[in-house]
Amino acid sequence: MDNVKIMDHPLIQHKISMLRDKNTGTNEFRTLVEEIATLMGFEALRDLPLEDVEIETPIETCMTPMIAGKKLAVVPILRAGLGMVEGITNLVPTAKIGHIGLYRDPETHEPHEYYCKLPDPIDQRTILVVDPMLATGGSASEALGFIKQHGGKKIKFMCIIAAPEGLERLKKDHPDVQIYVGHLDRELNSDAYICPGLGDAGDRIFGTK
Ligand code: PRP
Ligand code: URA
Repeated sequence: MDNVKIMDHPLIQHKISMLRDKNTGTNEFRTLVEEIATLMGFEALRDLPLEDVEIETPIETCMTPMIAGKKLAVVPILRAGLGMVEGITNLVPTAKIGHIGLYRDPETHEPHEYYCKLPDPIDQRTILVVDPMLATGGSASEALGFIKQHGGKKIKFMCIIAAPEGLERLKKDHPDVQIYVGHLDRELNSDAYICPGLGDAGDRIFGTK
């Protein structure tokens, strides 16, 4: 079974096109990243566990399904992944949030870890790792490795734009992780930027350069 789901919803595609536009400013960019995370989260969380609870309707008492408590952890890869967190907690306000800090060396494109703090215990939770960009796949692969070392078992990865190179790497390194991709782009350029992509997601979310 393929562990990759590429989104085809027109609302997601429309909003990704707006993100790509170099004239989209920081404020709108942030809003779009959050909205796309919510729309993708709807799909990525379709197997969240439910439990039947007793509810009294105006007519009668019934047993009816609700999301089982304390089951989700959202883990953004810093910095850019932070932009997607609220999009998910809008859907599941009880989710715990972990953080993994990684940056890509501009010369070697290798990821370097500078921070890792995860909800404890993590092993019983569905863990949704979020990062808008999957380029070489180095950062995501490393992040998923850390989470597994900390005991994470049921892990999903969600990105807005992926390059074929990064997607292949992630599938190979972590065949057990379900991957959700907003749009699969053409290729990486010689600086390991995604083409056509949207530029540097962190800089566009935080207004840095
Ligand atoms: C970007 C992006 C990913 C990574 C993807 O982060 O948000 O984490 O690059 O590239 P890769 O697949 O080749 O590893 P960056 O390192 O620029 O850090 P930032 O989020 O702090 O800007
Ligand atoms: N990181 C980004 O933010 N954009 C890319 O195109 C590649 C890595």
